[in-house]
Amino acid sequence: MVDDVAAAFDETPASYGTGGDFHTRYAQALVRHAQVPPGASVLDVATGTAPAAIAAAQIVGEAGAVTGVDISAGMLAHARRNVAASGAGNVTLIEANGARLPFDAGLFDTVLCSSSLVWFPDIRAALQEWRRVLRPGGRIAFSTMAASALPLGTLFRAHLRGYGIEFPDLNEPLNTPEKCRRTVRAAGLGRVTVGTARFDLVLENVEAAVNAGSFPLMADPEGIDSWLRSARQPVSLWASLRRRIPIAVPLTSRQLARLDQEFRAEVAHLVTPQGVPNPLNALFVVAES
Ligand SMILES: C[S@@+](CC[C@H](N)C(=O)[O-])C[C@H]1O[C@@H](n2cnc3c(N)ncnc32)[C@H](O)[C@@H]1O
Repeated sequence: MVDDVAAAFDETPASYGTGGDFHTRYAQALVRHAQVPPGASVLDVATGTAPAAIAAAQIVGEAGAVTGVDISAGMLAHARRNVAASGAGNVTLIEANGARLPFDAGLFDTVLCSSSLVWFPDIRAALQEWRRVLRPGGRIAFSTMAASALPLGTLFRAHLRGYGIEFPDLNEPLNTPEKCRRTVRAAGLGRVTVGTARFDLVLENVEAAVNAGSFPLMADPEGIDSWLRSARQPVSLWASLRRRIPIAVPLTSRQLARLDQEFRAEVAHLVTPQGVPNPLNALFVVAES
């Protein structure tokens, strides 16, 4: 299963997590919430293209060190380029499953996980594993999306529901402060705080908004069936991996075309002079071992 997640992220474009894009701002916000101290030894789980690792490296300085792990070789290739471009000399990148870390107990002062914990099939077990590698009194900090985040996706799921398709929300297990607190405490962590931030993402036009809400269904000429079946599409993994839902989508191409049309019409109502808003309300959870 983690092989499929890795394959999905191997396809991620090179632009992901670079420069001023929102992944970078989102990851930098997590590092601020974690209050990483200079000189600390930091682990960034599911580092992706390394935006959190690079932000942490700048804070810990030469006296500290950052290790980034990810299961996707493709993401790590982008990460290596980004780390080199940042000039950080204190970042090590390792290909590994973040739920079974190749590290001894008690090694790290801080474990970060930026916008990735929901991808782990057993969230509590992942947190327990991170706790294992944390020194006593060390900190775990992760970010996740609130229930109100990315309303275009919510709207699209509502449309699918109209066709009898209950499409699961990947973020559902951690989409409120209460769920985060409960999960973190169940993993044996304490002193939990949950911070919030809003990223005002805006899609430039209806086309971009339809794609963001329904990606990549509408762009896929084979339709929803192949979209949901394809293990190389992250969204299909939301359905098939996380929840292990058997995929059976009873939509004809005519229904699919109607769904597309209806969703497009609804998105068109949301256009403002700036574009189509799709705000991301983030939660930042910090806990101690
Ligand atoms: C949405 S990206 C976030 C990447 C990065 N942390 C950021 O803030 O941009 C999710 C990342 O989680 C990684 N991932 C998913 N499951 C993983 C696992 N079990 N172990 C390690 N990495 C994993 C993926 O390969 C991908 O790079």
